[in-house]
Amino acid sequence: MSKIKITSNFDPSADFILHEGNVLDLLKEIPDKFVKLVVTSPPYNLGKPYEDKLEIEEYLEQQKIIITECVRVLDDSGSICWQVGNYVNNGEIVPCHALKKQMSTGVSYGKQLVYDIE
Ligand SMILES: C[S@@+](CC[C@H](N)C(=O)[O-])C[C@H]1O[C@@H](n2cnc3c(N)ncnc32)[C@H](O)[C@@H]1O
Repeated sequence: MSKIKITSNFDPSADFILHEGNVLDLLKEIPDKFVKLVVTSPPYNLGKPYEDKLEIEEYLEQQKIIITECVRVLDDSGSICWQVGNYVNNGEIVPCHALKKQMSTGVSYGKQLVYDIE
């Protein structure tokens, strides 16, 4: 029986890569157009325990840096699933996917899936 190869850094011969660290460090190790699908669930910028709530411009700028790297590693026929929340400011609710144009990542946007957590 063959063993499953798990590494913590990029290795094209690995079955799985489990990288505990900054996603940007891992992305920088991955060659251009290497992946077919990116599924990312970045911080929602809602002031959750694991995040500092940022001004929306700063949050989008951070996201843009990561999405730009995701686009670089993505195959031309690939897709990115970007799971984000709402930007809430003085009671006004703006879904982050509605702000995607401000990020100018060069990605064309397809379908959107909206769900609520009760
Ligand atoms: C919205 S949560 C993801 C929740 C996860 N999808 C789940 O269902 O449990 C965002 C996570 O991204 C992590 N995170 C934030 N910036 C990161 C980065 N640059 N690299 C890796 N992880 C990061 C946060 O610590 C947090 O755990």
